[in-house]
Amino acid sequence: MKKLFKLTALVLVGLLASCGNAGESATDAAAGNAADAAYDNIMTRVSVRDYEARPVGRDTVELILKAAMQAPSAMKKFPRKYVVVEGAALDSLRAEFPNAAHSEGMKKAPLAIVVCGDMSRLDKDEAAAGDGFWVQDCSAAAENILLSAHALGLGSCWTGVWPAPGRSADMARLLSLPESLRPLCAILIGYPGKDVAEAEPRWNPDDVIWMK
Ligand SMILES: Cc1cc2nc3c(=O)[nH]c(=O)nc-3n(C[C@H](O)[C@H](O)[C@H](O)COP(=O)(O)O)c2cc1C
Repeated sequence: MKKLFKLTALVLVGLLASCGNAGESATDAAAGNAADAAYDNIMTRVSVRDYEARPVGRDTVELILKAAMQAPSAMKKFPRKYVVVEGAALDSLRAEFPNAAHSEGMKKAPLAIVVCGDMSRLDKDEAAAGDGFWVQDCSAAAENILLSAHALGLGSCWTGVWPAPGRSADMARLLSLPESLRPLCAILIGYPGKDVAEAEPRWNPDDVIWMK
């Protein structure tokens, strides 16, 4: 009985192992394709400053926000909040921040995500000194927003808020944000219009120092 059990176990292990091997090459190929697609997505993203007026669905916006939240964060503090701005609030934002509306096409973007540092997630001394890694944490999330929007067939454009003097405080006031939130950037998002440039190759060996 013991032997039979052992044999059955061996056959099962063998079967599982062979299934694993057979599946591996298909998995490898899929991983290769996914890697190609991910790399291509990075290399073809551009800032979009011409949009269609059509809205972006809530589910799609949530996919983008999920990608933002997946970004790395120093010491896992995740000191970030996202303000999704649409409609009249977005009109006011564009009126007060000309850098988010310096082309007619930008005025058609149906939404913006304002990425904010959340000082309440930082240690008290960090928050008081305006220190910590909140700028880097928010920038990583912002890049994930740009890339995920592009992957989903949308266009986006980072418009600068922090550290331009006064701009972050003005944005916080405009959006009636609590004192703990510090806007870093407002990212316009929407379906790209016709006037969109192609990505330019930027490989420059002079920018690299190979150290041995
Ligand atoms: C910190 C930061 C601030 C930016 N601010 C603005 C802005 O206020 N308005 C704008 O149209 N684009 C802004 N951009 C987008 C840059 O102009 C754009 O990334 C640059 O021209 C390179 O083009 P690409 O994004 O198509 O690769 C900003 C980008 C970064 C990273």
